[in-house]
Amino acid sequence: MDNNSISVPPLFQPLTIRFVTLRNRIGVSPMCQYSAEDGVANDWHFVHLGSRAVGGAGLVMVEATAVAPEGRITPGCLGLWSGKHIEPLARIAKFVKSHGAVAGIQIAHAGRKASADLPWQGGAHLSEAQGGWPTIAPSAVPFGGDLPKVPRAMTDTDIARVQNDFVAAAKRALTAGFEWLELHAAHGYLFNEFPSPVATNCFDPDLIRLDATFTSPSGRNLTVPAFWYQDFSRALTNGAEVLTPTGAPQWRIRFTPTEPGNYTMSLNVQTNDVSAGKPAAIHFNVPVAQPSGRHGYVRVGPDKRYFETSDGRPLRLVGANVCWGENQGTFDYDTWFVSMQNAGENFARLWMSPWFLGLEHMPGRLNNYDLRSAWQLDYIFDLANQTGMYLLLCFDHHGMFQTNNRNWGGSNNFWKTNAYNQINGGPCEKPNDFFTDGTAKTIYEKRLRYLIGRYGYSPACSRGNFSMRLTTLIIPL
Ligand SMILES: Cc1cc2nc3c(=O)[nH]c(=O)nc-3n(C[C@H](O)[C@H](O)[C@H](O)COP(=O)(O)O)c2cc1C
Repeated sequence: MDNNSISVPPLFQPLTIRFVTLRNRIGVSPMCQYSAEDGVANDWHFVHLGSRAVGGAGLVMVEATAVAPEGRITPGCLGLWSGKHIEPLARIAKFVKSHGAVAGIQIAHAGRKASADLPWQGGAHLSEAQGGWPTIAPSAVPFGGDLPKVPRAMTDTDIARVQNDFVAAAKRALTAGFEWLELHAAHGYLFNEFPSPVATNCFDPDLIRLDATFTSPSGRNLTVPAFWYQDFSRALTNGAEVLTPTGAPQWRIRFTPTEPGNYTMSLNVQTNDVSAGKPAAIHFNVPVAQPSGRHGYVRVGPDKRYFETSDGRPLRLVGANVCWGENQGTFDYDTWFVSMQNAGENFARLWMSPWFLGLEHMPGRLNNYDLRSAWQLDYIFDLANQTGMYLLLCFDHHGMFQTNNRNWGGSNNFWKTNAYNQINGGPCEKPNDFFTDGTAKTIYEKRLRYLIGRYGYSPACSRGNFSMRLTTLIIPL
């Protein structure tokens, strides 16, 4: 038989990546063994990994190996944070290599998922009394479930330290004879937490704050908050509006320029109240507006008795209270606004309520806004622009502070589902606390910031005393 005619399947052919050649394409995944003491490898690891090399694998990876003690998933995880960890790993690397495999190692930091019990003991977070330790993460937001420990939000110093820990561990891995290094950036561990919206609260500017400052051609500065956004597509299914998320959630900025010319936008990012670095700047040009038949933004006239548009024309509002959509949601407004426009109306009132358009109006929504409602409100704002409607937006519904009012058959007593109510995890024991409690005020101000960023692209609502007392917002045409 002619040996040359036998073709070797690619799986068993060598693979060279830069200066490392694997004898075949079989790699043993890093697999935590939870069997170390103080991060030090022992005979278990030697046999576990050595036998994979003897078995013929091309690459044998050592499990997630913590770069710092607090970065271990469990007390049984391997580590490389000190010189004492090198020798037992060097023994393994040497043995793996002597049997023809390439020795690799994965270095890791478990972030807010660290300090957990061994999997066969349940894997839940360990208190310090149980042998656990305090955890760190990009934000002080717990993973939840069995891992409820609230991590300490990392400072710049922490970030620099962890970077150095990774560098030092990589050097120790090299000293130990490893030829292949992997950084663990998966499974919700520290690297994974930084870009992840679930490891922080994008609605909480104390944790993450994006502000865009626009400088106009005439030198005026206006700062607008960026807001967290999820796009949706809508469909009418059996008479009901169904919203389906489309694409990934993202930050967005809305700004309405009021002069033509060259603008600068400078984006400032803060995490945990600390600047994330020099603001990023972009430049853009706003062309001279074409005449549109529109009259500008709404403002209160000089005699403080009437509204006018920014071109000085009196604004007479005639319209209807179309406060919430029924089952058809935003589809209702398609019909209503067109009919109202045909009847010569130019005004509509909307309510942000527990059952429609509410962002923070249900249990579990405290500073955790309902992005579906927010999208519906975007849609209605756009529709208003197209149909010539000015909107009066009520930020809350009076029933949210009622406990036992008999009106409407008692159906308006929404205090029990109000997110600010203590029984729903909020700061307020009684409805009136909402108006006096400092924590409630701080949380509500975050909602106002969100509303300003998302819907306040009209100068009529982004200037003046909007955040102090108004419960309404009128959008421009
Ligand atoms: C016991 C066990 C431990 C694991 N430990 C790690 C680990 O330390 N690092 C890692 O990135 N993945 C770890 N994983 C995930 C595996 O590396 C691998 O990605 C996963 O098992 C999926 O690959 P498979 O479909 O070939 O099993 C572990 C998996 C198992 C079963």
